[in-house]
Amino acid sequence: MAKTILLVGVPWSTHELTPAIRDAATLGARLHLVDTEETLAALHPGLDCERVPVAALDLASVLAAARAVRPDCVVSITELTMELAARVREELGHDGTPAAAERAVSDKPATREVLRDNGLTQVRFWSTTTAELPALARTLPLPVVAKPRSLTGSAGVRMIASVADAELLARQYDAARSARFGRDRLLVETYVGGVEISAEGLVVDGELTLFTLTDKVNTQAPYFVELGHLMPSRFSAGWQPRVHGYLQRCVTALGVRTSPVHAEVKLVGDQVELIELHTRFGGDNIVALLEETFALRPFEAYFAAMLGGSAPRVSRANTTWGVAFFTVPMDQAPPAGSFAFPHPEAVMRIDFDRRTPPKLREYEGVRLMYWRAGHALFASADYAEVLADITFLAAP
Ligand SMILES: Nc1ncnc2c1ncn2[C@@H]1O[C@H](COP(=O)(O)OP(=O)(O)O)[C@@H](O)[C@H]1O
Ligand SMILES: [Mg+2]
Repeated sequence: MAKTILLVGVPWSTHELTPAIRDAATLGARLHLVDTEETLAALHPGLDCERVPVAALDLASVLAAARAVRPDCVVSITELTMELAARVREELGHDGTPAAAERAVSDKPATREVLRDNGLTQVRFWSTTTAELPALARTLPLPVVAKPRSLTGSAGVRMIASVADAELLARQYDAARSARFGRDRLLVETYVGGVEISAEGLVVDGELTLFTLTDKVNTQAPYFVELGHLMPSRFSAGWQPRVHGYLQRCVTALGVRTSPVHAEVKLVGDQVELIELHTRFGGDNIVALLEETFALRPFEAYFAAMLGGSAPRVSRANTTWGVAFFTVPMDQAPPAGSFAFPHPEAVMRIDFDRRTPPKLREYEGVRLMYWRAGHALFASADYAEVLADITFLAAP
C-alpha cells in the first residue's frame, strides 16, 4: 500500500515541492501537505500532492489533521515549521528529531550554549536588543556580529566594528514593528575570521552522512548576504573528514536524530567553527546543486530515512556546479548589465525576468538590504570557470 508522508507547512521556496513530490513518489509514497486554506490555495494547481487544509498552523489543528491522515511519517522541509512537525511526531509517538533539538537549532543563542557546554565553540556571545546594542558595543571587544536570535537569509545581520556601526544597525530594523514580533532581540557574537563554507548532509538515527562541502560567495561585511554557491568546495579534499567529525559532534550535542543538515562553518587555522546549523537542506538552490553534482535526490534520501531508517549513499563528483543570484540593492531596479559571461559555455540555465519585483522587502520589522531578480546555474569541469561566472553575475 502507498505510504503517506505528512509535510507540515508549505516551504518558503515553493519550487522545492516539485522534487519533494517526485521523490516521495519514487519511494511509493504520497505527500499530504498541511497548511492553511489560504496558503494552499496560492499553490500551483498542477502540484500533484494531497492538500490538507487547517484553520491555523498550530499544534492542535495539525495534530487533528495528522490523526485523520494517519501518516507513516511527519516532516517539515521549511524553517518556520520544523519544531511544529517535531511536536506532532512526538504526540503521535513517531521517531525523528525531537522538538527540543529543533528549538536548540533554530534559536541561535541556544545553539551557542549547547556548543559551548560541549567545548565545540570558541565564540563568545551576548544577548541584547537593537535599542541596547550601542551601549553594549562600547563594552565589547570589536568587531562583533549582531543578528536576530532566529531568522535566515542574513536578514538583520551586521558586522559591528565601531559604536557607530551599532547605531547603523538600527536602520536595518523598523523599531516598533520588529519589537512587536520580538525581532529586535539580538545575539551578538565575536567575529570569526577565516573562510566560510557550508556542509550538506543527512543525519539518520543520530549518524551524520556528509554529502559535500560547498563554497560560498557573499557580499562580505557588513551584511554578509549570499550571492552564490559552488559545489563541491575547493576545500573538500583537505577538510571534509575534519568538518564531518566536528559536525557529528555538533549534531550529537544538539540532539538531532533524523534530519537533513545544512551547516555554515568557518575554517580558521586548522579549526572548524560553526556559524549556524539547520535541520533542513540548504535553500538557495542547494538541493538542485546536490541533484546535479552528485546525481543525488536529497528529499528521497530524507524520506527514505524517515520511512525505513535507511542511511544514504554518497557518490563522487567530477563536475563543479554553481548557482548565483542577480542581487540588487533593495531600493534599486535590476541593472541593465551585460550577459557576456566570461565562460558562456559554463552557463547551464538562467532564470531572470526584469519585471519581477522584490518578493519581500521586510519580514516582521527586519528590513532586507538586497533582493534577487533571478538566478543562474553553471557547470564546468573547471572550478575556476564556475567561480568567474558567479563573480561576474553576482557582484551587486
Ligand atoms: N560570529 C560570526 N563571525 C563571522 N561572521 C559571521 C558570524 N556570524 C554570522 N556571520 C556572517 O553572517 C552570515 C549570516 O549569519 P547567520 O548566523 O548565518 O544568519 P542567517 O540565519 O541569517 O543566515 C554568515 O553566513 C556569516 O557570513
Ligand atoms: Mg546563515
